[in-house]
Amino acid sequence: MEKEKIILDVDTGSDDAVAIICALLSNEFDVLGICTVSGNVNIDNATDNTLRVVDYLNSSVKVYKGASLPLASTLIPWGIQGLTLPHNEIRLDDSKRIHPDHLPLPKPNITYEDKSAVIWLIETLLKQEDHSVTLVPVGPLTNIALAIRSDERILKKIKRIVLMGGSHDVYAPTQGAEFNIWVDPEAAEIVINSGLDVTMVSLDATSCICLDYNEAKRIRDINTRAAIFVADMIEQRLNAAKKTMNKQAGQVVGIALHDPLAVCAIKHPEVLTDIWDTSCHIDLGRSYAYGETVLGRNYQSEINEKGEYVNLPNNIHYVRKANKEIFFNWLYNLLVEDTK
Ligand code: RIB
Ligand code: CA
Repeated sequence: MEKEKIILDVDTGSDDAVAIICALLSNEFDVLGICTVSGNVNIDNATDNTLRVVDYLNSSVKVYKGASLPLASTLIPWGIQGLTLPHNEIRLDDSKRIHPDHLPLPKPNITYEDKSAVIWLIETLLKQEDHSVTLVPVGPLTNIALAIRSDERILKKIKRIVLMGGSHDVYAPTQGAEFNIWVDPEAAEIVINSGLDVTMVSLDATSCICLDYNEAKRIRDINTRAAIFVADMIEQRLNAAKKTMNKQAGQVVGIALHDPLAVCAIKHPEVLTDIWDTSCHIDLGRSYAYGETVLGRNYQSEINEKGEYVNLPNNIHYVRKANKEIFFNWLYNLLVEDTK
């Protein structure tokens, strides 16, 4: 079976780390490289965390350091992004944070490549066959937007984009936006309206695949290095969420591993059970809805030469639901079959 060529773009945090492990353990992918971007943590920590995971798996896949800040959202220092990024969560102890500054893995013996992520992305994509590479961004879309704006020739080299981001019925950190889009709304608008085939694995979908302590134990009992770390990450996220959720609404019954769902969806689209082909734009007004994914506004938006109302073209495959059993079995089997 031909392996799918993919490039990961990560802001390595805890769920990004699991997504990287899944991509590197799977025999379904040819991972051309991993680009880092600031988001969950600052660019230095996101890159170091990514190197820790790659080194921990003894992988030869190269890591390329990317954008340290979003395109525009932090340019107004008193705006919410300007005030919080790249500082993210309040400075809790790493063991209490959903995204620790430093993952609980040994310091890496490898380093990132001496070429910035955006330059590497452009150079690598231009060498590929047309429509042959799947981009898998699971953090803010800053690097991808910069690459597209810098050299549009890469568009025809990209097969599709399968990203983790966006929200419609479930949202955080604001009352209407999802983190990856919210960090860099301008970058998201550039990528989503690039004309590329974009699948948006949203918070609505990832909220269908929440895992609990029992599932973490089932994974820990596989008892391989990768499985033990994945179980650690599930428990780290549950413990951190309990500290925040208790204040808001009762007990945490489970925690989503957002980013690995995007990786799973690439070769197992059956995990995505409700996909809405529609239009998507990002609210770029610097107000309450800044960074929101505005979906489905292309209905009956134009009148054709016959005077008939017609829809504007769709530009997104928005994923609304996912199947937890398919996802968990995929994750479990990847870890059981791990021979690294
Ligand atoms: O909203 C979830 C996304 O934000 C995930 O990619 C997580 O890693 C954070 O970046
Ligand atoms: Ca992420």
